[in-house]
Amino acid sequence: MTVRGFTSDNASGAHPRVLAALAAAGEGHAASYGADAVTHELEERAREVFGPTATIFPVFNGTGANVVSLSAALQRWDAVVTTEHAHLATDESTAPHLVGGIAVRTLPAPTGTMALTDLARVLADDEGSVHHARPAALSLTQSTELGTVYTPAELAALSDAARGHGMSVHVDGARLANAAARLGTTLAEQTRGVDVLSFGATKNGTLFGDAVVVLDPDLAEPVARLRKATTQLASKMRFVSAQLLALLTDDLWRRTAEHANAAADHLAERLRTELGLGPVYPVEANAVFIPVPPALVTTVTEQLPVLPWDRRAGVLRAVCSFDTTEEDVTRLVTGLGRVLGG
Ligand SMILES: Cc1ncc(COP(=O)(O)O)c(C=O)c1O
Repeated sequence: MTVRGFTSDNASGAHPRVLAALAAAGEGHAASYGADAVTHELEERAREVFGPTATIFPVFNGTGANVVSLSAALQRWDAVVTTEHAHLATDESTAPHLVGGIAVRTLPAPTGTMALTDLARVLADDEGSVHHARPAALSLTQSTELGTVYTPAELAALSDAARGHGMSVHVDGARLANAAARLGTTLAEQTRGVDVLSFGATKNGTLFGDAVVVLDPDLAEPVARLRKATTQLASKMRFVSAQLLALLTDDLWRRTAEHANAAADHLAERLRTELGLGPVYPVEANAVFIPVPPALVTTVTEQLPVLPWDRRAGVLRAVCSFDTTEEDVTRLVTGLGRVLGG
């Protein structure tokens, strides 16, 4: 099976501007653990991009960003409330529990987004009993694991409800850029009412490296200390910072995300018109979920670069990247046509 394709947006390489920034950062010596000039420039850029209260903490990966963010926001008797599809609930093994001591409570999300009514029910049921974990943080993924997005109004309603209950608000923004690009907003507009953000960069053109962006200044010290305590503090920080800085310079993040989103739209359109396959979920970011007969999931995924998302229901996941080409799309559509056609 060819690897180039759609299994994930972290299967793609790194953007040339990110690689150039890395090469530049490699010249000479620099202070370690974030005391270098590149990290200082990134800190300044983060305040411009996310607002004056923002402090950025580069980390190695998205799981680490989630664990550090939520550990900082929660006491040991607390729980985070998120959706059944949240990466932190499904795809981070026991890291939230093992590394962060985090209890996770999930709500249904048939199309990826949390419903205000479901959150409201959890909050209404919370009587402050010591027998129950206190719902103390809300974690929303933007864009969602099912390739959908929260509108700014939906985000505001959910975060207002959480704040009204004294909860912190966390956003898992592994694909925040794709949501902002789709909605035509700034990154700051995506994080209004948010206390702490896991800002994803790996899926949008870096080699590796994401960040925790703290917006509630009270969380800055806990995040700084927990980043080290949870093994997410890079000694040669400048190499993580240079990549993030490249992405946040001249809105590169928006152009890479727009490309991936447009490729997903195009793939969905070709699947619909050429094979009669409508997407399982609305295509609102850079992922397309493709319905196929369950019996063919294994055959398809052995031959084509897509992920088996739900073998029982017969759903494949195709995620587009900043460098997805027309040839990639054609190869997938014709390959699927061949396998499904018999
Ligand atoms: C929604 C979401 N959050 C976080 C992550 C971070 O994962 P990793 O630890 O692999 O960087 C991912 C990666 O797939 C993701 O899709």
